Amino acid sequence: MEDEENRMKVYIETYGCQMNLADTEIVLGIMNKSGYSPTPTIDDADVILLNTCSVREHAEEKIHQRLGVIKKQMSDKPDLVVGVLGCMAERLRSSLIDRHKVDIVVGPDEYRKLPELLEGALAGSQGIGVRLSRTETYDDIAPFRTEGVSAWISVMRGCDKFCTFCIVPFTRGRERSRTLASVVSEVEQLVVQGFREVTLLGQNVNSYGDGGNDFADLLSAVARVDSRLRVRFTTSHPQDLSDKLIETIATYDNLCKYIHLPVQSGSDHILEAMNRTYTRGHYLALVDRIKSQIPGVALSTDIIAGFPTETEEDHRETLSLMEEVGYDGAYMFKYSPREGTPAFRLGDDVPEEVKTRRLNEIISLQQKISYEVNQSMVGKTCEVMVDGPSRKSDLQLSGRTDTNKTVVFPTGTLKQGDVVRVNINRVSSATLFGDPVYKLD
Ligand code: SAH
Ligand code: SF4
Ligand code: F3S
Repeated sequence: MEDEENRMKVYIETYGCQMNLADTEIVLGIMNKSGYSPTPTIDDADVILLNTCSVREHAEEKIHQRLGVIKKQMSDKPDLVVGVLGCMAERLRSSLIDRHKVDIVVGPDEYRKLPELLEGALAGSQGIGVRLSRTETYDDIAPFRTEGVSAWISVMRGCDKFCTFCIVPFTRGRERSRTLASVVSEVEQLVVQGFREVTLLGQNVNSYGDGGNDFADLLSAVARVDSRLRVRFTTSHPQDLSDKLIETIATYDNLCKYIHLPVQSGSDHILEAMNRTYTRGHYLALVDRIKSQIPGVALSTDIIAGFPTETEEDHRETLSLMEEVGYDGAYMFKYSPREGTPAFRLGDDVPEEVKTRRLNEIISLQQKISYEVNQSMVGKTCEVMVDGPSRKSDLQLSGRTDTNKTVVFPTGTLKQGDVVRVNINRVSSATLFGDPVYKLD
């Protein structure tokens, strides 16, 4: 065994979506095997990596600033290696080396090259790996997971949808899936290690495919591994969400009754300009089928305010769609033009103050809807899996329902991963509060 003290230490900050969180665990898995140990302390690090996101301008600005701060603070450590991973590495490539004097730049499909590139960087040379792959899924890499009860598993990579606003197909490349057998065996190991919840990840999980197996087949295979394991997944593109998938979610008790189903806009004209490939009518019909076949299902969404050419009427259609669906929650964004995407050529014709006002209207409407949905839970009892102490107080625990709502309740003898029934007595638009009734198993 190598002496732990002598191993090089790597510190990673992760930005962006859950796929990036899962990728960081893959990166740590690769680096751990080549003799590096993860450290949570930036000052102890021999290697500092930022796993980055390009989805909106603001996400990138944050990283540029962060790199400036890190380079300045670490200027007395000439041997330190600083690297950029993820979507910004893929998009901005060598310009990151020019601008920030970082040592390595590695895109999402080249993480296997990290040990080699780091070796070079430690010897003083800069390195870059940004080729996209049609086949890389890191199927054989054991992710280095921090302890806990909840695990991420990427089941597919890339995206072929090419929504006109979106940079992801360019930073993540083409869709490809892991094998069903490897995902199932990873889930089996996670159960043995004590994990109680898995989230299957992909930019568009519904287009998962392995031979004759589609995403519904994968979900049922994972659900059957252990009936006490909670199984979640994200994200579903509305076009590919099949009736078979709805039926599968309804069939297994341990498949969580929560679907993140980004709509982006309520206007047909905007949906078409976004190349979302469904209409408002199709989307609402899909929501009806989901609600009627999965009683008590929770739905969340993503919405973009101020896409090019969006009129007041388009905006009002988004607001009315939100009311019609009655989402449990939403992630809401101002449109941000991304160079290289088809929408970039449309210009950015909705003035900033109009975008801001529309976004604020969308946010306050969603808060009102979420509060109403949560209010209907008062007096009811729900099953909650304990995540840990609540953010605000050690005397309170925080957990999540099957439908992914956060519940805060007094600490008893419960620990992370326990499942408890909680009587809800008070709510806000974001959180349910209550008292535990009794502990299950
Ligand atoms: N694959 C997922 C989403 C990935 S990006 C899906 O298809 O739903 C997450 C969200 O960021 C998107 O759903 C969209 O709402 C938002 N987004 C993506 N590109 C954007 C842009 N250029 N400006 C503003 N929001 C954007
Ligand atoms: Fe982007 Fe659309 Fe793919 Fe989602 S489905 S990652 S929004 S291109
Ligand atoms: Fe961002 Fe890349 Fe995810 S652009 S949202 S980190 S796929």
